[in-house]
Amino acid sequence: MGKQSPLRIAFGSIFFMSICFFLYNFEAIGTTLKISQTEDVDTLDTSTTTATTATTTAVMANTIISSTPLSTSIPKSSTNLQAKSKPSTKSKSKSTTKTTATGGPSAPTIDPENLDIEQIEADFPMGYQNPRGAWFVPLPAPNQRNLLKILTTEQREQLPSFGAQAHLSWKQLGKINTFYGIGREGGWQDHIESLDDEGLAPLTKWAQKYVYDHQHPPSCEGKKFYILEETAPWYGLGAAVRVVFRELELAISLGRILVLDPKNPPGGHLMSNDCGEYRGRNASLECVLEDITSCAAYATEKNSVRKIDIHKVPGGNKFVPPLPAVALMTYMKETGLEVTGAYLRHWWHAQMYAYVFRPNRQTLARMVQMRMNKTLHTGVDTNIREKDGTARLHTVPFPLPPSTISMHIRHGDKAIEGRLISTRDYIVAAERFVLRNPMTYRRRAFVTTEDPGAIEEIKNTTGINPVGTAFSNKYWYWAYSNIPRFDGSPFQNLRLSVNRTDAMIMHMMQLWMAIECDAFVGNRNSNWNKLIDSIRCTLMDKCRAPYLDAGYSADWLHFP
Ligand SMILES: *[C@@H]1O[C@H](CO)[C@@H](O)[C@H](O)[C@H]1NC(C)=O
Ligand SMILES: *[C@@H]1O[C@H](CO)[C@@H](O)[C@H](O)[C@H]1NC(C)=O
Ligand SMILES: *[C@@H]1O[C@H](CO)[C@@H](O)[C@H](O)[C@H]1NC(C)=O
Ligand SMILES: *[C@@H]1O[C@H](CO)[C@@H](O)[C@H](O)[C@H]1NC(C)=O
Repeated sequence: MGKQSPLRIAFGSIFFMSICFFLYNFEAIGTTLKISQTEDVDTLDTSTTTATTATTTAVMANTIISSTPLSTSIPKSSTNLQAKSKPSTKSKSKSTTKTTATGGPSAPTIDPENLDIEQIEADFPMGYQNPRGAWFVPLPAPNQRNLLKILTTEQREQLPSFGAQAHLSWKQLGKINTFYGIGREGGWQDHIESLDDEGLAPLTKWAQKYVYDHQHPPSCEGKKFYILEETAPWYGLGAAVRVVFRELELAISLGRILVLDPKNPPGGHLMSNDCGEYRGRNASLECVLEDITSCAAYATEKNSVRKIDIHKVPGGNKFVPPLPAVALMTYMKETGLEVTGAYLRHWWHAQMYAYVFRPNRQTLARMVQMRMNKTLHTGVDTNIREKDGTARLHTVPFPLPPSTISMHIRHGDKAIEGRLISTRDYIVAAERFVLRNPMTYRRRAFVTTEDPGAIEEIKNTTGINPVGTAFSNKYWYWAYSNIPRFDGSPFQNLRLSVNRTDAMIMHMMQLWMAIECDAFVGNRNSNWNKLIDSIRCTLMDKCRAPYLDAGYSADWLHFP
């Protein structure tokens, strides 16, 4: 109970600060709009010298607006607040539109206030009007039926081969399969060896082998050990993994093998009590993950320590052992660039997340079972409406189609530690990227979150940027899994399930599905997002895929 009051104070001050930040933003939005409107009017006054140009502008304004009937119904709490506090801006923007849409009967239904400051500045600097109207007129969607009539039989016969190219290549499919352990003969090391170096974080194959060999020496005789006990039983899986690998880092630096204390092993509280029984062990992270070492049986009180003083670790760089540190510096030297401490730690931690977070065989088998369960995942095509007005539901294929975006929306108890990013902000981050990269990216995402409200919100969101006609596809296609969700802490989420081990595996399966994707939207201010970011660069070769942060970099820049 004593703990609650400082928490509340922290919560209160975060809330207060958010309000201040918010108010500051109103100011910013107000200023932007005022400036842009004057610019807008000026531009129109000087450039619309002929009647034709003026008409084009009017036509384009109306077309864009009428083609997005759903854009105004997007639910979001923040902008409602904005609308209330900015009545003056609203009326101004309306009058501006009137002057440009010359006599058009259909009043614009897009209200600039429904957009983020980011979008107003970046995508609509003049409040939707572009002085070069013709560029802004949406192209009509292609009419396949008419085009097919023109094609010869021979030409039509080629069509299936074009469709086939929309699927994953055999090579890529093979890697996703072995990532899930499907058809894989060897262990994780074999899978890692099969990946493309270009898509991995630097020196990944070497770093993974280095850590693995340290923990799995040819002989365990005469080795020294560091026995790790559970110290933070309130942590979720992502944070628990982190605690373990930070101690592993110290152990490696001192030439000791890390073992989990058999009596009180880390992560036991995250699992069902009986999960280690069949191996004669207590519940621990090793119920779902690969054993951290092959030498656990050799650790005795005599050849082990139970604590490592971080100040006694050689090298000066607290967390990166000497050899990996120099290895990365040597690599970077060859690129002609200097390494920062932040990058060194980020790179090494990605390697450590990957080493500790390798699901074991039974876990992978259960993950595959869940992944292939057709009723456990739902696709929502917001472009197609059922008779009752709701979006059409689909099954979700394995693997996810190429170019799917992973969106991990961290809500729940995160507010205690940092700013929460709204669902809408995650979508905006994705849309800004997709709009700029239409050649290979589309409005299709796989969403993971502990917040049931976020799932409800995305299902209703066809798009936030109203100019859907400029994307490669007009409306969002969402996919998510039908898992129990509670907008709270990892433990509150665990309580939703009868079998904790199984619930843990379900969350791991969500992470694996995220890594089937080809672009990543998240907020690095969370361990789970760091896990996604690390695993994609080490246990899969997707490190060159874009990672878009929906939050504030100030919140995670030096987050250890
Ligand atoms: C499991 O934990 C209990 C209680 O801490 C301990 O008595 C027991 O020896 C442990 N089991 C194993 C296999 O270490
Ligand atoms: C598939 O998922 C549904 C929940 O959507 C669950 O009720 C069912 O038991 C699962 N089937 C298997 C084989 O796990
Ligand atoms: C989503 O849309 C449905 C149907 O229009 C509505 O009943 C529901 O309240 C909406 N949910 C949210 C979170 O806006
Ligand atoms: C709990 O889930 C794990 C992993 O799927 C499974 O091995 C175990 O048998 C389950 N336990 C019970 C009591 O159902």
